[in-house]
Amino acid sequence: MTARIIDGKVVASRVHAEVAVGVAEYKVKHGTVPGLTVVLIGDDPASHSYVKGKELACEKVGIATETIRREASITQEELLEIVDGLNNDPRVNGILVQLPLPNHLNEDVVIHAIDPMKDVDGLHPENAGLLILGKPRFAPATPLGVQRMLVEENVDMNGAKVVIVGRSKLVGMPLMALLLQKGIGANSTVTVCHTGTKDMAAETRRADVLIAAAGFPGTVTSDMVKPGAVVIDVGVSRVEDSTRKRGYRLTGDVDFQEVSEVASAITPVPGGVGPMTISMLLVNVLLAANLATSN
Ligand code: GUN
Repeated sequence: MTARIIDGKVVASRVHAEVAVGVAEYKVKHGTVPGLTVVLIGDDPASHSYVKGKELACEKVGIATETIRREASITQEELLEIVDGLNNDPRVNGILVQLPLPNHLNEDVVIHAIDPMKDVDGLHPENAGLLILGKPRFAPATPLGVQRMLVEENVDMNGAKVVIVGRSKLVGMPLMALLLQKGIGANSTVTVCHTGTKDMAAETRRADVLIAAAGFPGTVTSDMVKPGAVVIDVGVSRVEDSTRKRGYRLTGDVDFQEVSEVASAITPVPGGVGPMTISMLLVNVLLAANLATSN
């Protein structure tokens, strides 16, 4: 079997078109456009590249965007002051503090300081709690992107056995909560594997839909995949590659070559989940703007 390749760029461009319509309607109604502010601390090259992607996507759909860049030496108090200023700025509908933060900054304290109604990352405990309770407001963009991709690809998630590898707060945990819920693109039987899982391959081989979100290349090999499974690769790692001009290439968690001989459909890296993450962030920013004007 050779797997169908799920093109995240194609699905993402459909979402972008929907958001652009929503932004235009918002502008007619309110005379302004939704606004996203990204806070980027330090000089991690991967974070700078993600943030550039977010800025470009916002510009394309008409969302106003600003990035506040600060040195890694910023203090916790200074960062909290920035967040407080954004919480109180009516032009800012969405706030995204790019993670990871430098080690001396407490990620939880910073995220908790964001106004939950502007938390377009869906990481504030109020939004994470609402998601777990089955009443999502803002869910994190990557899990939303994975779910939207599965829906657009007509993968029947109702009662499907889903195995997620990885339990991060940005992907594994919220994805579990999303796919467990009743509703379209969900109502699945979800297993989450992690570093404490005893026999990972035995778990993953049961999956109709296998989602790799561990952050380590080579986590999923073909012997871990049931023939005909749908495989979604959330991992993005930079591995050295002297044949490339920039000295590295991006690779996912899944051994793409061998797994595509077993799976029925698979996402590539790059060009799979990555573009979906950005498009669902745009959806959340538009939602935040509409919620801010709905009362
Ligand atoms: N770093 C990598 N992905 C993300 C994301 O979705 N949100 C934030 N805030 N940081 C990230």
